[in-house]
Amino acid sequence: MREKLVVEGLSHHYPDEYTGMDIHALDNVSFKVQEGEFAAVVGPSGCGKSTLLNILAGLLPHKVGSVRVDGSEVKGPGPDRGVVFQEHAILPWRTVSRNIGHGLEIQRVPAGERNRRVQEFVDLVGLTGFEGRYPHELSGGMKQRVALARTLCANPVVMLMDEPFAAVDAQTRITLQEELNRIAIATRKTILFITHNVDEAAFLGDRCFIFTRRPGKLKATVRINLPREARQWKNVVADPTFTRARDEILALVREEVRDDDS
Ligand SMILES: Nc1ncnc2c1ncn2[C@@H]1O[C@H](COP(=O)(O)OP(=O)(O)O)[C@@H](O)[C@H]1O
Ligand SMILES: [Mg+2]
Repeated sequence: MREKLVVEGLSHHYPDEYTGMDIHALDNVSFKVQEGEFAAVVGPSGCGKSTLLNILAGLLPHKVGSVRVDGSEVKGPGPDRGVVFQEHAILPWRTVSRNIGHGLEIQRVPAGERNRRVQEFVDLVGLTGFEGRYPHELSGGMKQRVALARTLCANPVVMLMDEPFAAVDAQTRITLQEELNRIAIATRKTILFITHNVDEAAFLGDRCFIFTRRPGKLKATVRINLPREARQWKNVVADPTFTRARDEILALVREEVRDDDS
C-alpha cells in the first residue's frame, strides 16, 4: 500500500470538567502520507499538534473521523507506529544497547539477530563506542539519538515524532536535524514530524502541513522541492527553493499567532 497514513475528517474535543465547556482541539483534519514521505506538521503552540500525534499513536481515542495506518484503523497503540517524544523515554537502568534493543527483547527476537540489528542502529545514529553507557552519562542530544534508534530498530510502518528536538540546545538541534535527514535517506521511513519551528519543518519536510490556531485545521500544504541529499544547513540557507518555501510557511504560521501570544 502506497498510502501509509491516512487521516480523514478527524476532530477532537477535550471535555472540561470545571467549566463544562469542551475544548475544541482539532477540527476536520484530513491528509495522507505516502510511503517513504517525510511530512512535517507545523503550527502555533496550542493548535492541537500533540493532540493529533497522540491520536495517531493510539494513546488518545478518537470519536470523530478516521485514522488508518497501512489500511488498518487505529484503535490503540501498536507496533506499526513508532513514537518519539520531546522527553526521551529511555530507561535509566539500561545501557544504550539495551535501550535500543528493548522493543526487540519484548518481541522475543533471538539474541544474535537482536544484537546485529541493535549495532546497525547504534551506528546509524552515530552512537558507535557508546553502546555500554548509561543514560546519565549521555548528553541530551545523545539521549534523543538513543530514543530515535530504539524506535527505528523496532521497524514500524510509520514514525511519529512530536517536537523531538525542542529540548536540546540550538547547535545540537541543527546537528540532529541533519542526522535525521541522513537517517530518512538511509531508512526511507515514512515519517510524520511535528514542530512549531518553521525552519525545522522546511528543512526536513517533503511536504509541510500548516495548521491554524486552535481548533487546529489543516490550513495549507507546502511542498519543499529540495532533494534530501542537498539538505545541509550550510547549503539551504542560500538556496532560493528553500528560503522561498520557508518564508511562505513562516507567513502562513504568523497569521495564526495572536498578537497577545507574543
Ligand atoms: N488532556 C487535556 N485536557 C484538556 N485540554 C487539553 C488536554 N491536552 C491538551 N489540551 C488543550 O488542547 C489544545 C491543544 O493542545 P496540544 O495538542 O497540546 O497543542 P500543541 O501540541 O499544538 O501545542 C490546547 O488548548 C490545550 O490546552
Ligand atoms: Mg505539543
